[in-house]
Amino acid sequence: MENLLNNDPSTVYECQPIIDYMNHAMDDVEGFIFQNYSEAGGRTFFTNANAMRIDAGVSLVYELYGNGELTDGQFYYCLCSVLEAADRVSNTTGLYSSFLKKFTAASLKPIEFRGFDLKEPVASNEVYLADANELLQRVSGDVLYLDPPYTSMQYSNAYHVLNTIAQNEHPTIHGISGRPEGRNVSAWASRPKVEGEFRRLVETANFEYLVMSYSNESIMPVELIADVMSCFGTYERKEMQYKKFKSRKEAANEIYVTEYLHVLHKN
Ligand SMILES: C[S@@+](CC[C@H](N)C(=O)[O-])C[C@H]1O[C@@H](n2cnc3c(N)ncnc32)[C@H](O)[C@@H]1O
Repeated sequence: MENLLNNDPSTVYECQPIIDYMNHAMDDVEGFIFQNYSEAGGRTFFTNANAMRIDAGVSLVYELYGNGELTDGQFYYCLCSVLEAADRVSNTTGLYSSFLKKFTAASLKPIEFRGFDLKEPVASNEVYLADANELLQRVSGDVLYLDPPYTSMQYSNAYHVLNTIAQNEHPTIHGISGRPEGRNVSAWASRPKVEGEFRRLVETANFEYLVMSYSNESIMPVELIADVMSCFGTYERKEMQYKKFKSRKEAANEIYVTEYLHVLHKN
């Protein structure tokens, strides 16, 4: 996959008229988000008004792209603008595994589509979207940095509404939060599966150094990680106290977790 935004700063001003149009001239659409994730749809992820703007924004961006009126860079830029705008007015704690019943002040604000800066690329890079263990059959290098899920929270549940918006999909959904059926489930967020997945990764990774972030509140104990990595080379570990991730609703008192950096120099 190439760098989707291609970090071409001209995209910013080329897309500004589309963003202005979305803010000031676009007609509302009673689409999939309105029908399923608004007050009218029985799930108060968004106000009715904002849900219709999200539907309108995403269908406009896909339609322009489908008609060949947007380059790849322009398409992904405008889609990012819709996603970020939707996320700012979502009636959630930041995760979409559930919605709040009473609308928050932020979620009641009218949605606003915004542009954003694109920085010049500092290096040429390649981006892949794949299962980590499958990808490691195909790529090699000097340093492999890993930041895997470390709790049993499935990302495909926690961000399902944003995924649906981004992909302009109309999936079959179920349950109180309207989760799509057949979403990707990661072994890294599964207590019974994570150890096998991790062992396989450490063994097969064709990299000189493996560096992995993981916290003390994780599903694999620190000793297990140390044991597995030590079998394949010289292992060391750094640690620091770090403010725990809090969803928007949680208490103001700061809670700290221990963040580990596991480092393996492979034999
Ligand atoms: C802790 S987050 C990493 C966040 C990222 N480093 C950042 O700063 O934005 C873990 C990520 O791993 C992804 N993931 C889960 N299972 C995976 C797998 N089997 N292969 C590749 N990525 C996976 C999740 O979707 C999530 O985006």
